[in-house]
Amino acid sequence: MEQVKKHESHVRGYSRSFPTVFESAKGAVIQGEDGTKYIDFLAGAGALNYGHNNPYLKMKLIDYIEKDGVTHGLDLATQAKEYFLHVFNKYILEPRDLEYKIQFTGPTGTNAVEAAIKLAQIATGRTNIITFTNAYHGHSKGALRLTANEHYRKGLENELNQFTSFLPYYGYVEGGFDSADYLEQVLEDKGSGIDIPSAIILETTQGEGGVNVAPKEWLQKLRRITKKHGILMIVDDIQVGCGRTGKFFSFEDAGIVPDIITLSKSISGYGLPMSLVLISPELDQWEPGQHTGTFRGNNLAFVTATEAILRYWRNKEFEAEIQERSQFLFGKLNELAEKHPELIAEVRGKGLIVGVEFKDADLASEIGKESFANGLIIESCGSGNNVMKFLPPLNIDIDYLEKGLEIFEQAVETVTEKVEA
Ligand SMILES: Cc1ncc(COP(=O)(O)O)c(C=O)c1O
Repeated sequence: MEQVKKHESHVRGYSRSFPTVFESAKGAVIQGEDGTKYIDFLAGAGALNYGHNNPYLKMKLIDYIEKDGVTHGLDLATQAKEYFLHVFNKYILEPRDLEYKIQFTGPTGTNAVEAAIKLAQIATGRTNIITFTNAYHGHSKGALRLTANEHYRKGLENELNQFTSFLPYYGYVEGGFDSADYLEQVLEDKGSGIDIPSAIILETTQGEGGVNVAPKEWLQKLRRITKKHGILMIVDDIQVGCGRTGKFFSFEDAGIVPDIITLSKSISGYGLPMSLVLISPELDQWEPGQHTGTFRGNNLAFVTATEAILRYWRNKEFEAEIQERSQFLFGKLNELAEKHPELIAEVRGKGLIVGVEFKDADLASEIGKESFANGLIIESCGSGNNVMKFLPPLNIDIDYLEKGLEIFEQAVETVTEKVEA
């Protein structure tokens, strides 16, 4: 850690929570240079849904590199891109009756969010965007405007508050307040002071914001209201898409069709940078080259993304496997919550994103540290950092899932014993 501590900017984050130098990684396990193996429930914050160095994807990648396939090609047409577009349409969009144009943006999720909101503003001619409490959409200034956490907005508040209204996310206000009903009311009331926005943007399950799940009825209501008022619905599926909540897209259970979708993190399947925006065809109002960038269309990522779809999404088998692992994870965590009602406020989530909300943030932090000391990587989330987020690779072996859970359960016991002593 010497070089990192000495030379890397103060801004570094994860290497503080998990202070070791990592050397190699395979599947659900990442290994430190001292030989310690860690079960990885962080999974690249959702970028490693198929595990580290997935062998099927790796083979295709090595093969492509061996053949001197194009690596960097701006947004030139390449074979790798052609094949990705074909496979994505055939196995992801068409079976779901979805029709979208695909925009490749710069390589980060934030780049996709920037493009999505810019397009929404261009297409509607309106500037205001509605976002939600505890939302997380990235860190460039456009995306940061939509991100709620005070920590990230510090020092930039005046600039960021332009063009954005934050609405309570589902369940944010206790006592049954429904922010979708509220939205409808303010949109229809000329005295509300809220102008019709260009778009609303939301995560159907908030990842960084504390694993908050929106029920399908609420999503359907939002979709109805947005349609009625000509507001675009942008679903940010960067963290909870690509199978994380059980289906390829997180909104599938709700049966809604967003106008715009952002995808990144696990779309490449291999942890390679890749982002895209799915655009309803009539909204594809970009001029050629109007939104450009050097690193759009990472061809190595196209190769692994294509293989990930072919390997995991050609039929429903993988969905069933995710469901099985999800039930196991929820079962164990609910047992833990029943055993410790004094510590755990709630277990919530969908598919293989599960949050355990602790009543005390310091305790959650100690449990995270104790877990790491015993070979488990897991992060906390939520504005109070009191929600431990379980985000294992979707194809994790049940044995590793069980082992990781055991480490976590033991950490809960050890830390509470220490506190009581
Ligand atoms: C929902 C969501 N949107 C956007 C982003 C930003 O993606 P990136 O960190 O790749 O810029 C993230 C990252 O965690 C995210 O979870």
